[in-house]
Amino acid sequence: MGLTTNQILIGSSLALAAAVSVVYLLYSKKKKVSWRKVANVSKIYLYPIKSSRGEELESANITSFGVGKVGTEHSDDRCFLVVSPNGQMVTGRQEPRLVMVKSHVSLNSITLSGPEMEDIDVPIPTNVSNAMNCRVWGNDIAGVDCGDEVANWLQKYFNADYRLVYYPRNATPRDARGEISSPPGKIVYHDCAPCNILSEASVDDLSSRVDINISARNFRPSILITGCSAYEEDSWTNVKIGVVEMKFMKFCARCLLTTVDPTSGIKDSDGEPLKTLKAYRQCDKTLKHIYGHDPLLGVHMVILNPGVINVGDSVYVS
Ligand SMILES: *[C@@H]1O[C@H](CO)[C@@H](O)[C@H](O)[C@H]1NC(C)=O
Ligand SMILES: *[C@@H]1O[C@H](CO)[C@@H](O)[C@H](O)[C@H]1NC(C)=O
Ligand SMILES: *[C@@H]1O[C@H](CO)[C@@H](O)[C@H](O)[C@H]1NC(C)=O
Ligand SMILES: *[C@@H]1O[C@H](CO)[C@@H](O)[C@H](O)[C@H]1NC(C)=O
Repeated sequence: MGLTTNQILIGSSLALAAAVSVVYLLYSKKKKVSWRKVANVSKIYLYPIKSSRGEELESANITSFGVGKVGTEHSDDRCFLVVSPNGQMVTGRQEPRLVMVKSHVSLNSITLSGPEMEDIDVPIPTNVSNAMNCRVWGNDIAGVDCGDEVANWLQKYFNADYRLVYYPRNATPRDARGEISSPPGKIVYHDCAPCNILSEASVDDLSSRVDINISARNFRPSILITGCSAYEEDSWTNVKIGVVEMKFMKFCARCLLTTVDPTSGIKDSDGEPLKTLKAYRQCDKTLKHIYGHDPLLGVHMVILNPGVINVGDSVYVS
């Protein structure tokens, strides 16, 4: 029996409606994330200057660039950078003593302190038309010079010709580096992602395997988590703390900076704890093209939803 045009039309409309409902159901099921409480926030660290000592915060304003201070516009993570005169980044890898430089950002200035140095209060530059081109891991990014006075301070501390630069807000950020998952993140002078999460249990486990004293500070997390088991953070795809939502971007591949003692600024002569980490925290064979032989510890996250978080907040994952 042949079908009339009307029957075909009705038939295909019904089929279309059914298909739409199925897609809708699948989509709404996918959208409905079920959160599971796994841990608490133990510490929040802000690193205003790349490679400098982290400042512990009780509360943080998590923006797309990571940890920021509540109520200040100019204090996002890694928005200051030490550079050589030609704009090349200087990090704790070349200058281990950078990890002992404390920086404290307030509304209009940044204060630097260092062992045997007088504190210096540096106004945050406001004339962003003075930006110079800097390079972080081979990417170009703008930086506004913070002036001669702080350059003299750096000269005295490092005995080298360095400048401090600040990321001007109207500049173009870098793309998060080596992403293996969407959505794309934007970063400033960070290594590769806006936010790094690490659990105390992972640090404790590694600590039990090495003879030297290490702490979470060796690994420069943004958010340190307590209450989960060691390396549990490896399995978290979505993380929610208060209103803040983050998504896994990639594992954190560890480098020589972990061997610099955060309190003395001295590299461990045996290359620990990196050597031990290398022995048991290699990535899966299928991921070697991303991480090579660098061992993994902690996870890099991109920020999906910004907002304020506090020490003690519950951490939910899905
Ligand atoms: C958090 O940072 C954003 C972006 O800079 C800003 O608009 C917002 O006012 C800040 N919130 C708080 C509570 O500081
Ligand atoms: C900002 O810097 C530019 C370039 O050096 C200069 O021409 C301009 O006068 C400065 N503006 C202010 C307000 O200082
Ligand atoms: C580790 O730290 C403890 C306590 O601070 C100290 O007693 C011990 O000597 C340190 N060990 C090493 C190897 O530095
Ligand atoms: C988180 O903190 C709460 C209250 O301080 C405590 O009762 C709970 O056991 C903690 N949870 C985890 C997973 O550490």
